[in-house]
Amino acid sequence: MSPARDTTMTMKEIFTRIYQHNGWGNSETTSGSGSSIFNTVAIRRELPFVIKELGVRSMIDVPCGDHHWMREVTLDIDEYIGADIVPELVERNSRTSGSERKRFCHLDVTRDALPRVDLIFCRDCFVHFSFADIRRSLQTMRQSRSIYLMTTTFTGIEENYDIDTGDWRPLNLQRRLFQFPAPLLIVREHGIWDGGEDSDKCMGVWNINDLLVS
Ligand SMILES: C[S@@+](CC[C@H](N)C(=O)[O-])C[C@H]1O[C@@H](n2cnc3c(N)ncnc32)[C@H](O)[C@@H]1O
Repeated sequence: MSPARDTTMTMKEIFTRIYQHNGWGNSETTSGSGSSIFNTVAIRRELPFVIKELGVRSMIDVPCGDHHWMREVTLDIDEYIGADIVPELVERNSRTSGSERKRFCHLDVTRDALPRVDLIFCRDCFVHFSFADIRRSLQTMRQSRSIYLMTTTFTGIEENYDIDTGDWRPLNLQRRLFQFPAPLLIVREHGIWDGGEDSDKCMGVWNINDLLVS
């Protein structure tokens, strides 16, 4: 499915349609095969260590998708906020996983103000965004005055190319146009899906103040 081809659709409409029609076609999770229990072994294992190492007490998981694998992670923090642009996902996550320390909210990472937290966790998000929407997201992240960003990067990609928001392509955030410095920490994920595998898929951690945000 490539709903981004219809240029009249808003971001919210694009991703709501993907959610409602299970557009990423995985039987286990509406967030796509990258979010299956199998494909999240490394991040589920390593995230608690990253949180401890960085001294994180609060985090926003944006986008949180259907919270399928994250609900399996024991987070030793005071505050977890899951946020997504699809209201139905947020309502469902609140109903099934909300608690005193865990809440969910509806938010567009490219436009809305983000809360100030220790860690912005942003997995499998920018790979679906145009360069312009990534730039807007980095601006909202910087404006939140949060400390760390942990996000998806593909270390083997030499050159990044643009897409319509809603499609997918791998991105190396240390290459043009982003030029992130070497990450403070890196978790190697190894995604396997119907069409192949991503042996260079990683979650990198950066100090947001170290990023070039134009
Ligand atoms: C591939 S899923 C990844 C979900 C989650 N990070 C994970 O690892 O399972 C991408 C998610 O991004 C959400 N999304 C897309 N655009 C967004 C935006 N502008 N703001 C917040 N969430 C957005 C979609 O609704 C979808 O749930």
